[in-house]
Amino acid sequence: MIALGKIMPMSDRNTVVTLRKMTDHDLPMLYEWLQRPHIVEWWGGEAARPTLEEVLTDYRPGALARNAVTPYIAMLAEEPIGYAQSYIALGSGDGWWEDETDPGVRGIDQSLADAAQLNQGLGTQLVRALVEKLFTQDPSVTLIQTDPAPHNHRAIRCYEKAGFVQQRVIDTPDGAAVYMIQTREMFERSAKRA
Ligand SMILES: CC(C)(COP(=O)(O)OP(=O)(O)OC[C@H]1O[C@@H](n2cnc3c(N)ncnc32)[C@H](O)[C@@H]1OP(=O)(O)O)[C@@H](O)C(=O)NCCC(=O)NCCS
Repeated sequence: MIALGKIMPMSDRNTVVTLRKMTDHDLPMLYEWLQRPHIVEWWGGEAARPTLEEVLTDYRPGALARNAVTPYIAMLAEEPIGYAQSYIALGSGDGWWEDETDPGVRGIDQSLADAAQLNQGLGTQLVRALVEKLFTQDPSVTLIQTDPAPHNHRAIRCYEKAGFVQQRVIDTPDGAAVYMIQTREMFERSAKRA
């Protein structure tokens, strides 16, 4: 039987950001996105801009899974509009999150593909969708973190609108970052208010 209440109205399908798991077929598209200046600026800078071979190897979902990273493609109706990833913080390695002891902590990173689509609320929708997915699909998730650069004011504001709260500036292997969190309790409180 079709659950009528769960069918999304046609109008919402064109304006709501959804997430699907990334596949190997998405890698050439992701490579092209990772060359775009508005992403290069905040995705490790010029020094970290990956070659096609690096994307085809390092961003393969199977390869990312070995580091407990899950990649997603954000969709607006049928159009892929962004990349997002979640990861288990504990045991990240390479100097990341070394003080973490809670296996329930997840981290997220995301970027919109098209510079012309920035500042229109799509990032906030994307982050909300990812947070909801992580908390509702896995009851063991306790807290979600994100770590924008201190001068990435657009990302910081976007994460605040999606329910994250700034904690402090931390040192990461990629440099200084604003440590921002959303606990399960914060998420459930805001879901009740909505
Ligand atoms: C970060 C990102 C995902 C946010 O998505 P977005 O759709 O642009 O963000 P939103 O439109 O939902 O929210 C942006 C907010 O920042 C505000 N903002 C933009 N530039 C700002 C600035 N320089 N200072 C302060 N606020 C700023 C916007 O006004 C908006 O807030 P408002 O709705 O209260 O007016 C997207 O901008 C992006 O992909 N940027 C490039 C790559 C990147 O930075 N990735 C994140 C790495 S941590």
